[in-house]
Amino acid sequence: MIKTIGLIFLGPPGSGKGTQAQVLAQSLEIAHISTGEILRQAITQNTPLGLKAQIYMDKGELVPDELLLNLIKDRLSQSDAQKGWILDGFPRTVDQACFLEQLLEQLNQFSECVVNLEVPEEVLIQRLLERGRQDDNETTIRRRLQVYHEQTAPVIDYYRQRGNLNSVNGNRPPEQVSTSVKEILTV
Ligand code: AP5
Repeated sequence: MIKTIGLIFLGPPGSGKGTQAQVLAQSLEIAHISTGEILRQAITQNTPLGLKAQIYMDKGELVPDELLLNLIKDRLSQSDAQKGWILDGFPRTVDQACFLEQLLEQLNQFSECVVNLEVPEEVLIQRLLERGRQDDNETTIRRRLQVYHEQTAPVIDYYRQRGNLNSVNGNRPPEQVSTSVKEILTV
């Protein structure tokens, strides 16, 4: 049986975090929390957060923590997240991972399961160019990948050291990737 859980997807841009999170959140009936989606909605709605975030997102840089951390705290405190949640795009730095660990303790929430999606870089670039989101042009994709290697990849070690990292080959059809993630959750 699948337990109620907090699941974190790690992986570079284009690795399938959003695709997998959406399918799993639906089938497990838990909240899908995508920081990228929340920020893109704020941009569409022209909110003060959106106006500030867009400057960073268009360049492929990380949005500063002061714009994000309270947002995550509020989102994880909402009622639909009490049954379980999937985080897609957060944490993206070791500082964010430390913040999340303390926050979950404060909120008295479930221990997290971390899934790292592994996909070769040339496949990532191809997928993103084909998708064509506003930040999916070649210059921004390269910067996003560089930011990923410099600032986000260390988060993998952070969770490995805590013993809750699971690596999944994301370079397979989405259904096969979902099956592997579900297997991890049912162990
Ligand atoms: P975010 O929206 O999180 O973008 P990202 O991490 O760059 O990830 P993507 O959405 O591009 O890829 P994904 O791994 O979700 O893959 P997807 O399923 O979409 O963040 C955007 C920006 O917001 C950041 O650059 C930053 O500025 C800011 N931000 C967000 N969170 C932040 C944070 N915590 N701190 C600071 N700043 C933050 O799939 C990609 C494509 O591949 C799709 O077309 C999909 O159909 C296809 N695909 C997926 N899986 C497969 C598969 N198995 N086989 C073939 N194709 C596939």
